[in-house]
Amino acid sequence: MSTKPVIGLIGGSGLYDIEGLENKVWRKVSTPWGEPSDEVLLGTLKGVDCVFLPRHGRGHYVSPSGLNYRANIHALKSLGVTDILSLSAVGSLKEELAPGHFVIVDQFIDRSVARQSSFFDTGCVAHISMADPVCQRMGDKVAEAAQDVAIPFTRGGTYLMMEGPQFSTKAESHLYRSWGCSVIGMTNLPEAKLAREAEMCYATIAMVTDYDCWHPEHEHVTVDAVIKTLHANIANARKLIEAVIPRLGQPRSVCQLGCEHALDHALMTAPSK
Ligand code: ADE
Repeated sequence: MSTKPVIGLIGGSGLYDIEGLENKVWRKVSTPWGEPSDEVLLGTLKGVDCVFLPRHGRGHYVSPSGLNYRANIHALKSLGVTDILSLSAVGSLKEELAPGHFVIVDQFIDRSVARQSSFFDTGCVAHISMADPVCQRMGDKVAEAAQDVAIPFTRGGTYLMMEGPQFSTKAESHLYRSWGCSVIGMTNLPEAKLAREAEMCYATIAMVTDYDCWHPEHEHVTVDAVIKTLHANIANARKLIEAVIPRLGQPRSVCQLGCEHALDHALMTAPSK
């Protein structure tokens, strides 16, 4: 049986709309978990159904710790989304990942302390596997598209998920480098966990804006510095989205990597009688 994918796009800082989307309509969605960050934008791109959610809301008014991740992921699921592509600004923890570079992340380390990142915290208990937290099939498509539109990118890398909203101390930044992490950000891991629990494929494109605060020859990260690089990154993100959506939207059988069967062996709670 073949599925026609519906692509969910979660846009981070600076990405509040999707150019080129046809038949656009913003729609309010309510969920049992509360309100998502904003209305979602429905439309088609090159014939592929897409649903876009600005992670921090249009105008950037929801902080990383204040995001209702469960509502955001539930909203996408309820609209039929099968594959979520998440785009985020990040700091670099490696010399070779300069501002402007994109990283197709394949691992995460969790240093957050205050995120609700499970749909299974009361009543029904489930433990899904997060050994491979992102969908490799989606990563392959993103890499092909990035190559096509000549965006500097690296396939693979560990995303250090911090709580924020303050940026890291130097000691923290050096610690994360010593752990081999590639990039640092404040939002993506709860999305990856919840997408897996909701049996959706998920991939992250981490767009480097700064060298955090570890680099002796670069200024410590500031919002001004992030925003400066962000504009160039967003132009590249738009090119990449246009190139990757037709690839992700091709009809396919169920994801061979098991994203869509994540709950098959994860439920602990006995079925109710
Ligand atoms: N987002 C962009 N740059 C960042 C950094 N250095 N730390 C955490 N989140 C970021």
